Amino acid sequence: MLFSPCRAEATAAASRRFAAALVAAAGIAVLLMTAPGAHAARPWMDASRTPQDRAKLALAAMTQSEKLAIVHGDFPCAGDAGDGTVSGIPRLGIPGLSIVGGDVGVSNVCNRSALRLLAPWLPPAEATELPAPVARAASWDPSVSAKAGGVIGRETRALGYNVSLSGMANIVRDPRFGRSFETLGEDPYLSGRMVTSEAGAVGDQRVVNGLKHFAANNNDATRFTSSSDLDERTLREIYLPAFETAVKNTEIGAVMCSYNRVNSVHACEHRHLLTDILKNSWDFHGWVMSDWILGTSSTIASANNGLDQEQPAGFFFGAPLALAVTFGLVPRSRLDNMVLRTLREMFAFGIVDDPAENDGIDAAAGASEARQIAERSAVLLKNQGDVLPLDASTTRTIAVIGGNADGSSDGRATTSLIPNPEPLPQRAPTGYPSGGGSSLVWPARVVTPLAGISARAPGASVTYDDGTDPARAASLAARSDVAIVFARDTQAEGTDRANLTLDDGAEALISSVAAANSRTIVVLETGGPVTMPWLTRVPAVLEAWYPGESAGRAIARLLFGDVNPSGRLPVTFPASEADLPTAGSANQWPGVNNKIAYREGVFVGYRWYDERGITPLFPFGYGLSYGGSFDYSALSVVATAGGGADVSFRVRNSGTRRASEVPQVYAELPDPSSTVTQPPRALAQFTKLTLDPGASTDVHLTLDARAFQYWDVRRNDWALAPGSYSVAVGASSSDIRLRQGFVPAA
Ligand code: BGC
Repeated sequence: MLFSPCRAEATAAASRRFAAALVAAAGIAVLLMTAPGAHAARPWMDASRTPQDRAKLALAAMTQSEKLAIVHGDFPCAGDAGDGTVSGIPRLGIPGLSIVGGDVGVSNVCNRSALRLLAPWLPPAEATELPAPVARAASWDPSVSAKAGGVIGRETRALGYNVSLSGMANIVRDPRFGRSFETLGEDPYLSGRMVTSEAGAVGDQRVVNGLKHFAANNNDATRFTSSSDLDERTLREIYLPAFETAVKNTEIGAVMCSYNRVNSVHACEHRHLLTDILKNSWDFHGWVMSDWILGTSSTIASANNGLDQEQPAGFFFGAPLALAVTFGLVPRSRLDNMVLRTLREMFAFGIVDDPAENDGIDAAAGASEARQIAERSAVLLKNQGDVLPLDASTTRTIAVIGGNADGSSDGRATTSLIPNPEPLPQRAPTGYPSGGGSSLVWPARVVTPLAGISARAPGASVTYDDGTDPARAASLAARSDVAIVFARDTQAEGTDRANLTLDDGAEALISSVAAANSRTIVVLETGGPVTMPWLTRVPAVLEAWYPGESAGRAIARLLFGDVNPSGRLPVTFPASEADLPTAGSANQWPGVNNKIAYREGVFVGYRWYDERGITPLFPFGYGLSYGGSFDYSALSVVATAGGGADVSFRVRNSGTRRASEVPQVYAELPDPSSTVTQPPRALAQFTKLTLDPGASTDVHLTLDARAFQYWDVRRNDWALAPGSYSVAVGASSSDIRLRQGFVPAA
């Protein structure tokens, strides 16, 4: 056919008409979609309804087998399946759940674990490795937790998942707990504040957030078999409040029940915990999922007592649950409630309306946020003679020693990567300052301490020694202006620590190096407290925790004073293991015959040291800054009608540098009786502020009634003891600066 201009014009006009018709049709379609009645066929897709109503409508449309498919995971997982999946219902437009770990950043058990052994060619699933939760707690700054939660939520969604397994709210009962690094420390109030802001921020990214491990999961080596035996008051005052705070103050999608038993009853079939307290008393309307594989141990008891979803498979909640429902052993109404709770959160967090896509993470943004969090989490423990901060213009030779600070041990430049294609439970090889187990992140970009320090001091000669030969390291230190020794511990899920000693013979290394160079600085990269028999030999110690992928940049900026350290300990550092609340009693730690007696009761952490008059190495709430010195004055405590108090005081920076302070408010309570004794003080509020030298600020904080109450087991309720109360304000649990007597309103 010959080409004709007329024909070409006619064709173009026809195309334009066709395009216009398409646009019009699309417009009508959009109008129809948004017109009233557009969701007539699928009313649960109407986003103007409440999540609860939408869940009810979807539930009403589901078949029995669709309901049964939602109450358990689809194990085995593979490849990038995260930590587990639950089938969706495409017929109803309801996506499946894709669940991934998130304590330290987005981890990915399926990608890293046993299945990876079978498919080693799979690329590792990379994400931002944040400082560990215990580090974030050391910031004593809920905005830091929120920043971490924001990264976790954003990357969970960016990698295509819609449920984050984060929000660990277990208490450090004993610092030998192998998962201390994943906790938010030893105090229920601090943990509650931090986990609430973190979980809220995860949820803000339209990812279902969670809390775990409910409850009293405070050791790991025997978690599958042991019973945490504790009285109701201890449970309510120490081990539940962090969960309670989060459930009552932010939308929580899922609570994971723990592996352990509580007073002999499996946590995942514990009616008192799951139904009476969590769902009925706290009004939690999300779903309870079991911890992975061994978390569920029955069908009927678990379903009837409050477990809503078995993970990651359906050993008990697959065919056995179908049978149990058929025979009336689990009521249909209970199955409906299990499904309703799950669907409700899927609507509430937007994962039905806005399904997550695997778009990839913004690694540069994550690295920068990881650095900022690490900088605000490090705790300066000692700085004798102001040896820190270092002056890059006068420090000519720097020895960097030990701790795999050059990242060479695994063949990839990282201080915190565990090349870990192991089945669970994974142990962190001694090489890396990062905790092992399900929270392990394969970091997207890593800056080692050696790289960070070298970049920060370009004019200096920076030399690394791996520290395996203390004499060789000491000789390098002797030739250097300053020696920086990196030291670490080993923590991993599935294990507990035998002691609080540093790894790799670091104690002897530090002593040798310190003997050779009086300007020896120790940087600890630990998941919790360690003992420090060498402390008097060194002038400076910085606790950097497991600092995440941007460790090197953050540590260099802290050591050289670009950032003034501002962290405070979220956990007491004991002088010796003999001082621990559980010391000398195998019944208390690690337990005997699978029973762990929480005989220390509410005297956990600083509550124990205060009660017994034991001086710890470093108390809860402690931390220094460069040139910061703060005066406290003008305390006023006024009772509020609801039983709480308004507390005001003034803080002034009387030091020489702009620095941060964390004023801590403690409630000092009378004993209800000779048999019900209260700890000398309990954290009730805190804030973090930054002041220039000479500047002061008035602090106003509100304490709620709970700050002054104890759990009365006879009345099964919170109560106020008769007697005298005071409010104490200080810079740590052991450094009380102001105190005022006070009578709470009954
Ligand atoms: C851990 C949980 C984790 C789960 C899934 C379990 O072993 O206890 O914290 O979320 O695995 O990875």
